[in-house]
Amino acid sequence: MPPRILVSPADMRVASDGWRRDGRRISFVPTMGYLHAGHVALLDEARRHGDIAVLSIFVNPTQFGPKEDLARYPRDLDGDLAKAAGAGIDYAFVPTAEAMYPAGYQTYVDVRALSSGLCGASRPGHFTGVATVVAKLFGLVQPHVAFFGRKDFQQLRVIERMTADLHLGVEVVGCPIVREPDGLAMSSRNAYLSPDDRAQAPALQAALRLAADAHRDGERSVEALLARATQHLATTPFQLDYLELRRHDDLTLFAVTVDGPAVLALAAFIGPPTRRTRLIDNLELG
Ligand code: PAJ
Repeated sequence: MPPRILVSPADMRVASDGWRRDGRRISFVPTMGYLHAGHVALLDEARRHGDIAVLSIFVNPTQFGPKEDLARYPRDLDGDLAKAAGAGIDYAFVPTAEAMYPAGYQTYVDVRALSSGLCGASRPGHFTGVATVVAKLFGLVQPHVAFFGRKDFQQLRVIERMTADLHLGVEVVGCPIVREPDGLAMSSRNAYLSPDDRAQAPALQAALRLAADAHRDGERSVEALLARATQHLATTPFQLDYLELRRHDDLTLFAVTVDGPAVLALAAFIGPPTRRTRLIDNLELG
């Protein structure tokens, strides 16, 4: 059975009011569509953990910078609905930008410190857009539980913090990164890669792995660990945006040595200036 489609925010809210009144447990997966196996893993979790499983598909304009890929972001609603049907999703919420951000709209959610480094540094305003749209979606869908991927590790931390700080009462669950057989983290943006660039892309995870192996073998120097990954990437056409080791819980920096659980995260560019693609990946250490 294909999911039933809700387009207007008002209809979404009326539906979730009804499910809540009937005591149904609502599980939710927010996405920007062009679904791949990473998304489908989240849909499977939602199906397992709720009476009513809801997917949202919305390419959220407020999380894209003026020079970013909003206009060319890949879309395939029919394909997405088929995948949602396969995963047993009950409802797909597919609002328009005009309905989500009507004339006069002026409210934004700003998760401060967590949004400032890593992707937040190279994409100013990005996490304000993410936190804002997720807060709005939580208000409309009223989920008991919502599933997010650990591929967007900083996004997961921002949403956990926002949900706690605003007392939204949603259980936020982070799910493992789903990868292609060669190690590339699945992403809708992988569709931008030329065959040559796609062939280079496993280097991202390979670089992270080299540092993770050194960490496993006892290396604790931040500088030495980062050097392992940087040296590997220097042999590839990737241009690093950032490569950082951060504390796993609050994403603050280590001083000199890694003295607790960490996340090693990177963003890198590949491709010609007209079709430059930015990919992210991370590994959790310890
Ligand atoms: P989108 O990039 O479509 O991703 C939707 C969800 O799928 C996110 O929680 C993301 O972390 C997860 N995801 C993507 N690739 C994954 C992979 N390879 N393995 C596991 N999970 C993966 O993230 C967004 O959309 C938006 O910022 C959103 C939260 C919907 C707000 O607009």
